[in-house]
Amino acid sequence: MTASPDTTPETPRRALVTGAAQGIGRAVAEALLATGLPVALLDRDLDRARATARELDPDGERTLALGADVGDAAAVAVALAELEATWGLPDVLVNNAARSLGGNVLEIPLDEWDDVLATNLRGCLQLCQRCAPAMRARGWGRIVNMASLAGQQGGVANGAHYAASKAGMIVLTKILARELAPDGVTVNAVAPAVIATPVLDALGPERIAALARTIPVGRVGTSREVAAAVVHLCGEDAGFTTGATIDVNGGLSMR
Ligand SMILES: NC(=O)c1ccc[n+]([C@@H]2O[C@H](COP(=O)([O-])OP(=O)(O)OC[C@H]3O[C@@H](n4cnc5c(N)ncnc54)[C@H](O)[C@@H]3O)[C@@H](O)[C@H]2O)c1
Repeated sequence: MTASPDTTPETPRRALVTGAAQGIGRAVAEALLATGLPVALLDRDLDRARATARELDPDGERTLALGADVGDAAAVAVALAELEATWGLPDVLVNNAARSLGGNVLEIPLDEWDDVLATNLRGCLQLCQRCAPAMRARGWGRIVNMASLAGQQGGVANGAHYAASKAGMIVLTKILARELAPDGVTVNAVAPAVIATPVLDALGPERIAALARTIPVGRVGTSREVAAAVVHLCGEDAGFTTGATIDVNGGLSMR
């Protein structure tokens, strides 16, 4: 029996990264651009998404900045309509946008729970629902969902709603992976931990150093290291990896 390799695209692939204005999402956009893929940067902060797009692609030929809150179905529909009219729906989707809030699980207000789940989990679901059919029709697609060690271990520092949403993303990844595998579409998750982004920087150098001592590799991670895992999963040669969760955590947790 002959293995079925990935097809060479008739039209160039294009990517959509959510939460791409800063941090890990920005690094993912930069790394995908470096592979030659044009990238749409979707963020609720449109001004910052535009500024990031300009920095990564000064000519503006290979980026498109889109403003939407991924938890807002109407706003996502408008942004995707703009993307579809400009480039078509993406071949590569990276669901990276997320929010987190601390707080004791017994005291989390239910509307706050709903807000976090709407951004992190429902946002991921609706982007997949809207983009996957076109991937399926083309017989090729890559979806990467940004999970977290918190979703694997139940870490509470970012709140139980955050951890539950990330656990939900890991399960959703597996369900979508099974559903879409026969049509050449892979769906995987990446689970980072302690990555140097503006949120982590806010802890200050002493707490970051203390944190680093708890990590086997002896330091916090970088957004580029997370982006490298995403780029691998989005590649032509990653077609046999689906439903997986790739850990990028410096050895903090080993499965
Ligand atoms: N930094 C870490 O250590 C770490 C660890 C584990 C998982 N993660 C995950 O990686 C991803 C990126 O994290 P980060 O540290 O770069 O975060 P960040 O806060 O630096 O950046 C998040 C980006 O997403 C955007 N965003 C937030 N809510 C949005 C919404 N509702 N709609 C559209 N855009 C929205 C923000 O404007 C921002 O540009 C998240 O999914 C996060 O849960 C990060």
